[in-house]
Amino acid sequence: MARNIHSLPGNVPALRVLFVAFIFLPLRLVTAGGQQQQHNYFAALHKSILFFEGQRSGRLPPDQRVQWRRDSGLHDGATAGVDLTGGYYDAGDNVKFGFPMAFTTTMLSWSIIDFGRNMGPELKNAVKAIKWATDYLLKATAVPGVVYVQVGDPYSDHNCWERPEDMDTLRTAYKIDAHHPGSDVAGETAAALAAASIVFRSRDPQYSRLLLNRAVKVRRYYNTTVAVFEFADKYRGAYSNSLYHAVCPFYCDVNGYQDELLWGAAWLHKASRRREYREYIFKNEVVLRAGDTINEFGWDNKHAGINVLISKEVLMGKADYFESFKQNADGFICSVLPGVSHPQVQYSPGGLIFKAGGSNMQHVTSLSFLLLVYSNYLSHANKIVPCGETSASPALLKHLAKHQVDYILGDNPLRMSYMVGYGARYPQRIHHRGSSLPSVQTHPAHIGCKAGSRYFLSPNPNPNLLVGAVVGGPNVTDAFPDSRPYFQESEPTTYINAPLVGLLAFFSAHP
Ligand SMILES: *[C@@H]1O[C@H](CO)[C@@H](O)[C@H](O)[C@H]1NC(C)=O
Ligand SMILES: *[C@@H]1O[C@H](CO)[C@@H](O)[C@H](O)[C@H]1NC(C)=O
Repeated sequence: MARNIHSLPGNVPALRVLFVAFIFLPLRLVTAGGQQQQHNYFAALHKSILFFEGQRSGRLPPDQRVQWRRDSGLHDGATAGVDLTGGYYDAGDNVKFGFPMAFTTTMLSWSIIDFGRNMGPELKNAVKAIKWATDYLLKATAVPGVVYVQVGDPYSDHNCWERPEDMDTLRTAYKIDAHHPGSDVAGETAAALAAASIVFRSRDPQYSRLLLNRAVKVRRYYNTTVAVFEFADKYRGAYSNSLYHAVCPFYCDVNGYQDELLWGAAWLHKASRRREYREYIFKNEVVLRAGDTINEFGWDNKHAGINVLISKEVLMGKADYFESFKQNADGFICSVLPGVSHPQVQYSPGGLIFKAGGSNMQHVTSLSFLLLVYSNYLSHANKIVPCGETSASPALLKHLAKHQVDYILGDNPLRMSYMVGYGARYPQRIHHRGSSLPSVQTHPAHIGCKAGSRYFLSPNPNPNLLVGAVVGGPNVTDAFPDSRPYFQESEPTTYINAPLVGLLAFFSAHP
């Protein structure tokens, strides 16, 4: 996973990226590596969705296309007396971390809500990728007042280099409840359920209602059950206080839980159109914005996403009272523009958005996604964003987003695609247990915890292609080691791909 602590032999030195200077970049049409390629965005879209099948936990269905994977984690939840099979492994390990899984689900849903019409025959696969997550989230929220937020002891798991099919590590099930709150993970889970309910609204109305009812209070009954959002709001706290040793430093909530409450309310409002959520946002806007950083968006920090999501309504002329969200969204856009006088987002010399902390590609895809959706919202409203001496048109924002996507696909100084299986050169030694160990088919015998170390340390390419996996990516100088121990660069995650699905859909329809 992205903030990983490994204790394998020959362990990785702590990779710390230090930087001092901001690099100023003029907007360039051609990358440092030379001429731009013509990309097959549809092929990349197909692969980006296929990746999720490689991350599946649980009993695999007959239509499973990633054949080197087999059933795994079939007793997940048993120690707690509940069924928590299914869902996704977050990255290159075998833990099911609920916080990033819920964020992944929200972003896959947003990808379909805004760009599903551009997906053609891949739309059905994208919907399946969401359902694999929501079926699990429904299990994790089946008991009112409780949310199961993780399966797998991360220390036990990270101490081994084991195929998911062989797992014999501790599969502890971690939960939050009224006495051990987690408004962050519960708020994100409510957002995921609500966003996915929009995706299923016309495809499977009954399932859609089930998802939405789990997220919001069910009013039809005399006795209202506490649904996930009310639970998140009523019992306030960060899950990293309640479950510190299980979730930190892996998916520790550094940024606080306030943003997930606003984010959850924004998605509940979008999905239910209930006035109570609009009022909730209005009433809590100032309080919950504490510590707002306008240009962050990822599994921990939702601020830029909240501002862009709510701005759509402002731009449609339906919610003038949310004007301040649009002002913040505009501020986010201006902060990302390269070449303005006070850029707040760093770019590598090759033109890639770069933020410190590892797994940089998560920032690239999530920020680019926001640029693209905001560009569409602006286009419909016939607006541009004023940024001091300059301004950002919808066309410029699309261009910036496309530039980032093209970098991922190979328009970069190393002429390397950062998506496994796409293009002529791509990462061969990704930090991923299942991909780097021989498959069950070729090596049916169990490979134990430490027996996997020799595969981890091997200089050979991974035997199983995790097609569509996008890795953490190059460092701030556009250099990429293609080495398994360098997990910050070579590990894929579900939340790198989820926003990329929407980006690739759009550019496959508008190359
Ligand atoms: C609410 O309804 C459920 C299901 O019918 C029932 O089990 C529960 O005891 C009720 N709770 C209250 C507080 O009445
Ligand atoms: C980037 O990676 C290259 C090659 O691995 C290395 O030589 C360089 O020091 C790294 N730069 C930074 C700033 O980490």
